Amino acid sequence: MTTLSQRRYHITTFGCQMNKADSERMAGILEDMGFEWSEDPNNADLILYNTCTIRDNAEQKVYSYLGRQAKRKHEKADLTLIVAGCVAQQEGEALLRRVPELDLVMGPQHANRLKELLESVFDGNQVVATDAVHIIEDITKPRRDSKVTAWVNVIYGCNERCTYCVVPNVRGVEQSRTPEAIRAEIEELGRQGYKEITLLGQNIDAYGRDLPGTTPEGRNLHTFTDLLYYIHDVPGIDRLRFATSHPRYFTERLIKACAELPKVCEHFHIPFQSGDNELLKAMSRGYTQEKYRRIIDTIRRYMPDASISADAIVGFPGETEAQFENTLKLVEDIGFDLLNTAAYSPRPGTPAALWTNQLSEEVKSDRLQRINHLVNIKAYERSQRYFGRIEEVLVEDQNLKDKTQVMGRTCGNRLTFFAGDINELKGQLVKVKITEIRAFSLTGEPIEVRQPVSV
Ligand code: SAH
Ligand code: SF4
Ligand code: F3S
Repeated sequence: MTTLSQRRYHITTFGCQMNKADSERMAGILEDMGFEWSEDPNNADLILYNTCTIRDNAEQKVYSYLGRQAKRKHEKADLTLIVAGCVAQQEGEALLRRVPELDLVMGPQHANRLKELLESVFDGNQVVATDAVHIIEDITKPRRDSKVTAWVNVIYGCNERCTYCVVPNVRGVEQSRTPEAIRAEIEELGRQGYKEITLLGQNIDAYGRDLPGTTPEGRNLHTFTDLLYYIHDVPGIDRLRFATSHPRYFTERLIKACAELPKVCEHFHIPFQSGDNELLKAMSRGYTQEKYRRIIDTIRRYMPDASISADAIVGFPGETEAQFENTLKLVEDIGFDLLNTAAYSPRPGTPAALWTNQLSEEVKSDRLQRINHLVNIKAYERSQRYFGRIEEVLVEDQNLKDKTQVMGRTCGNRLTFFAGDINELKGQLVKVKITEIRAFSLTGEPIEVRQPVSV
């Protein structure tokens, strides 16, 4: 029998930034318990899949990975197998029936409780933790993938009821962290040398609604905009980003704050999902395409160069060709720097999955191809404006395809490559003259390294 301190773990993460952030915290807990990282899952004594169920193909991927490790457990009886995240929450005990080799099934709200759940597993139990809980403040140190950029959760869960979406079912109701806890985490990151923070929430504009306190006029004291003002001057941090914004709650006050606060990057991720008002209604999104356009206009009035990214769904139940064309028109008119597109996938426990007006796979994949074609053209057009310009790039890593180059992002979130030594440049802000453009990335020549605004 191996002792606990020699055990090795591997985590595979599927899905969104929330899951990536949760995985980093769970990795921190495992290292605290004496586990060591194993790059190769086949050498690990503990395997954790942090799963996503946003679309059917995401869920199926999990089962194929899991099947392989479940087999391995027949030869290695002391292998600990964990399914965490959104599939775990959705399937709960049904997962144990499907894969009896599992030791632990734990929903996303339980990520910070990994240690106590595992202790119960090591006592010989098969554990399912999917009940709704108050998310405990984090006391462990995440094992972060990057030394330059870091995620910080500000609000967990989602209270919206978009008719296609599993997230409220699997992530639970909104729970905001206190501004003090968020600032303390960012201050610690600043001390550790991190330069860029991305604040995370499924619907970040909902931040603070569940926290007590109002102004004399009755406005909530703790809106997301207030949070930005409260944390923007943390020493050592050069850049602040946030995601995801919801058009229903997005305010001009937030736009002003972003224009005013120098560390906040001029990049907005505001999913619109559809460019057709009837479909937006069927999706229960709570805004019209006209309102969405007004938001983008306002952003561009304050920050003409701001980059805009979004998500869109094609082939939603009942979507006609004309309605799909309204989405294409929106993409054409706005010109997104990046657009994540997906064909609608019916999800268990969501209203739209039960509707009888589902479209065929052929129609969905044809529309997906058509929108992606347009997205590429528009992104390339948007890239043009960078040509010849000097952009500030925060260096994150080596370019894995060309080790003589480093890679980082512009303030507008464009991936940028240029010649340089990662050992010298990691975590530095470098002024780069852009000499080559592609739809989603740039190449340039370094001009000078900027001294940080704060130390
Ligand atoms: N909270 C964010 C998005 C969360 S899910 C928001 O409100 O915009 C990320 C993206 O997945 C969504 O923006 C949507 O475009 C896509 N998505 C969600 N459910 C989907 C489904 N059932 N089929 C296809 N795409 C879906
Ligand atoms: Fe899903 Fe809508 Fe919540 Fe986004 S806002 S996570 S799409 S329910
Ligand atoms: Fe997927 Fe869960 Fe995120 S379903 S997209 S990992 S919130």
